Order: sequence, then C-alpha cells, then structure tokens
Amino acid sequence: MHTSALDLGSDMRTTLVTGGCGFIGSNFVRHLLETEPDTRVINFDALTYAGNLANVADLVGNPRYRFIKGDVTDREAVRVALVGVDALVHFAAESHVDRSILDSGPFVRTNVQGTQVLLDAARHVGVSRYVQVSTDEVYGSLGAEGAFTEATPLAPNSPYAASKAAADLLVRSYVHTFGMPALITRCSNNYGPYQFPEKLLPLFISNLLRDEPVPVYGDGLNVRDWIHVLDHCAAVAAVLRKGRPGEVYNIGGRSEWTNIRLTHALLDLLGKPRSLIRYVADRPGHDRRYAIDCAKIETELGWKPTIPFEQGLSDTIAWYKANAPWVEQIRSGAYRDYYARQYGTPGGT
Ligand code: NAD
Ligand code: TYD
Repeated sequence: MHTSALDLGSDMRTTLVTGGCGFIGSNFVRHLLETEPDTRVINFDALTYAGNLANVADLVGNPRYRFIKGDVTDREAVRVALVGVDALVHFAAESHVDRSILDSGPFVRTNVQGTQVLLDAARHVGVSRYVQVSTDEVYGSLGAEGAFTEATPLAPNSPYAASKAAADLLVRSYVHTFGMPALITRCSNNYGPYQFPEKLLPLFISNLLRDEPVPVYGDGLNVRDWIHVLDHCAAVAAVLRKGRPGEVYNIGGRSEWTNIRLTHALLDLLGKPRSLIRYVADRPGHDRRYAIDCAKIETELGWKPTIPFEQGLSDTIAWYKANAPWVEQIRSGAYRDYYARQYGTPGGT
C-alpha cells in the first residue's frame, strides 16, 4: 500500500472516495476539495487499467488530499484506510459493459464482493454516511416511451448491470438489517474530461481526431440520456451531504440522443466526413433505451443538471484535443489488445 502525506489538522471531516483515479471519481475528488474547504479526501484506488494517477496529478501536494493504492476486496487494506473516516463514497468498479461481456469475473469480484467488504468495514467504523454510486442500467431497458423512476423494478441485462444491481441490493440489505446510513445514486451516461477511451464518446472523439473510423453498434438507434460528469459530481455531493439515509436518488441530464444522431453531431463538430462511420455487429443484449426521471433529487435536494449537452460536447472535444498526450499514453498500452479483441481491427498507435 503506497500513501502520500495528509494534513492532520483536527477540525476537518474526512471523506474516503473509492475509485478516485477513474473518470468520475477523479472529477468528484476535485469537486469535493474545491467546494468543501473543511473536508479532507482520501482517494482509495487499485489503479486498474482504468485508474490513472495522471487524472489527479494536479492534487498532489494538496494538504487535504491523500492517495492510498488499495483494492476494495482487500479487507485489511480497507480497514486501515477507513481509520478516522466519517463518510465514504464508493465509485470503484469495473465499469464497461463490453468488457463484462468478454469476462464477467472481475465485475463480480470488484463490484459485488468489493461492495460487501466496504459495507462491513464502514459499518464497523460507524461512518455517518455511505454513498453507493450506481447506474440507471440496473433498471434494464425502456421502450420508446417513459423514464426510469426510483420505483422502477431492477431488471439488469448485462453482466455489468447485474453486478451493480447485486451491489445495490447488498446496500439495501445493510440499511434494512443494520440501520446503516447508506444512500444509493443511479445516474445515466456520463461524459466529460478524463473518460477512458473505451466508452462511446471518448472512443469516437479520439478515433476521429486521428481520422480513424468509428464503430456504431447495430442500427445506431439505441438511445442514451447524457449528463456532464460535473453535474453528476454535484448531484453525488448533494446526496452525500443532504440526502435521506436509506433512499435511492436517480440522476440524469434530461438529454436523450440516439447513438447515430450523436455520431453525426461529433462528425460535424470535428469537420469529419460521414464515410468514417462503420456499422458493426450489435452488442449482445444491447439495451435499447435509457431515460432518467430525476424529479426526486430536484425536488428534495434542489439539484438540477446545469450544463447543456451541446455546450458540454464542444468543451469535451476541446479537452480531448488539448490533452492528446493523455489519450496517447492510454492508447499505446494494453488498450490495443482490448481494441483488437473487441472490434477485430487494430486500435491505438
Ligand atoms: P472508471 O472505469 O473510469 O474508473 C473506475 C476506477 O475504479 C478506476 O480508477 C479503477 O482503478 C478503480 N477500481 C477498479 N477496481 C477496483 C478495485 N478492485 N479496488 C479499488 N479500485 C478499483 O469508471 P467510471 O466511469 O468513473 O465509473 C465510476 C462509478 O460510477 C462506477 O461505479 C460506475 O458503475 C458508476 N457509473 C458510471 C457511469 C458512466 O457513465 N461512466 C454512469 C453511472 C454510474
Ligand atoms: P457505452 O459508452 O459503452 O455506455 P453504456 O453501454 O453504459 O450505455 O455505450 C453507449 C452507447 O453507444 C451504447 O448504446 C452502445 C454504443 N456504442 C457503440 O455503438 N459503439 C461503441 O464502440 C461503443 C463503445 C458503444
């Protein structure tokens, strides 16, 4: 376990964030440090293929920030990391649906077993808050109409979604059985800076910036409800500080787009030709449509999505253009093997 220094001042509260070197976790750690001057943040992350210290490089030296390299399934590492912690936000996960189809083993281990280890450790320490960061994918797929509410039955369709739903049910059971002060958030598709280029938006942006084709699954008419990662972070922080223990809160951007419409928008924004679109075999079990009803968090906690999708998309493209070395470092590694296995063509450099 590698650690860096943490200021030991006493008038502060300490929040442990798991998965803080990933896409959403790194944005969330930065958000907490910027918006809560009396909060210390411990970032607990195993640094898997998706974890990247470069995502939090700007935080090194901040006396309220500390990094611990550790695995959420490692009971002893988790026990030690939680000493003195009063709140925990659990982002760490295997997060990509296509990888869960290739091999679901790591998803069950990290997402299910890891959550169980954290819940037990958090219960023993007696944290005042435990936030489980989950996904709308636990609800399954929608038809043309309607939106997921917190009362929608769980019906996960991918191994990834099933592992997240299992974790949510464990959290629910700890609330019910032990009175654990836990809360669950279920958010729609995130986009923004530091997203690993295996997910649709950063994959397509980074391919197009190199004039490489973009693989659209199936007929391209699947619908996702997009939210900027900073809006998601603000929502998780609102749930952490103001949410009612035992409750589930849906989070969404009220921004539904078909994949092909989104692909056309990216091509237009980047000035690239439609001939770069490749329709490829559909993802097995591909959920048709996600849409989130986030009225509960809006009404109860006063949160709302603030970043219009078109604006966020332009900003995200600008970020990927300005951070080409960040992308290149990822695309030249094990990413190439994954790309070849998933798409049957070479990717990366
Ligand atoms: P990510 O893949 O970018 O990052 C995951 C992070 O978790 C990485 O830093 C990785 O090193 C770490 N990690 C993985 N296994 C670990 C383990 N065993 N122990 C400790 N750390 C480990 O994921 P993301 O997109 O930032 O998603 C974060 C969370 O948000 C996940 O729980 C995901 O299910 C949820 N979520 C994501 C989205 C989305 O659109 N990306 C939407 C809703 C919910
Ligand atoms: P993704 O970013 O993997 O998120 P999720 O599966 O969690 O929604 O995919 C978003 C949508 O884009 C989904 O409908 C699948 C589709 N997609 C493609 O068409 N091609 C791709 O190469 C990828 C990664 C996704």
